[in-house]
Amino acid sequence: KRKLIVLTDPGQDQAAAILMMLGAPDAFEVLGLVATAGNIDLRHTVANCLKLLELAGRPDIPVVAGCPRPMTRDLVTAVHVHGPTGLDGPDLPEPSIQASPVHGVDFIIETLRRAQPHTVTICSLSPLTNLAMALVKAPDIAPRIHEIVAMAGAYFEVGNITPSAEFNVYVDPEAARIVLDAGIPTTLLPLDVTHKMLSTRTRLEAMRALGNRCGPATAEMLEFSESFDLQKYGWEGAPLHGPCVPTFMLDQTIFGGRQVNVSVELAGTLTQGMTVADWWGITDRPKNAFWIRDGDPYRYYALLLDCLGRLP
Ligand code: BDR
Repeated sequence: KRKLIVLTDPGQDQAAAILMMLGAPDAFEVLGLVATAGNIDLRHTVANCLKLLELAGRPDIPVVAGCPRPMTRDLVTAVHVHGPTGLDGPDLPEPSIQASPVHGVDFIIETLRRAQPHTVTICSLSPLTNLAMALVKAPDIAPRIHEIVAMAGAYFEVGNITPSAEFNVYVDPEAARIVLDAGIPTTLLPLDVTHKMLSTRTRLEAMRALGNRCGPATAEMLEFSESFDLQKYGWEGAPLHGPCVPTFMLDQTIFGGRQVNVSVELAGTLTQGMTVADWWGITDRPKNAFWIRDGDPYRYYALLLDCLGRLP
């Protein structure tokens, strides 16, 4: 069973990812949710994490608040996609639990130092601020991490917050660079693959038909965030980003990619936050990430539905 620290700024697609993790208790033990400033400010991402755990009936999982803004920049949010609460759509239950008082950065450090080396996976659904801060504060944690699996970046599918940058990297490019340079085994699930995972009508109907609490709530959340993406892309369904992370951990055969160098642009006036993936090995820059480019949407949604169906 994989032990997970989840970095997240929910966000409807991230809600689906978190619920998916909770719906696979034989595969995952979620050690804690580190709320990140990203899609919306930290106060809301903390509240949204708490609401999701309440919805899933898992108030035993700690929620900790991380940094209120990126390492060096002002926060850019995506409320235009996710709504004024960051998680608009269904009426979610008010949480009976509170965030724990430890800071997100310290939670990452302490959890990794306490655990046996190589037993904890960092799942990032959000900007990488808190992991980068933890690596700066406590470099000894790097070799203890089993693996990082992150929804971040874009290369062949270019950008979503700017023409050249994906949101999670754009918000805190310095953090992404620190994490990618830390020498930790890392898998990136960029827009190149998430744009193939479209939440079509039929797929959302199947979620709703699960008839439990979590399936229909997820469908309602995704319908909300879809309305922005459907207009933007004109596709039949919106890309579903976050659940690529748990899906990859559950069944890697659903995806295809290769080990490449990924470098983050920090300075470009048009390309800030761009993830330059050296797919053809043109440079001798060290290969620092497994870059996923392909994925099977049918098996992806089948696994997502299966996990959601196991929840209350
Ligand atoms: C990422 O940006 C956010 O708005 C989504 O929640 C996802 O994490 C996709 O680029």
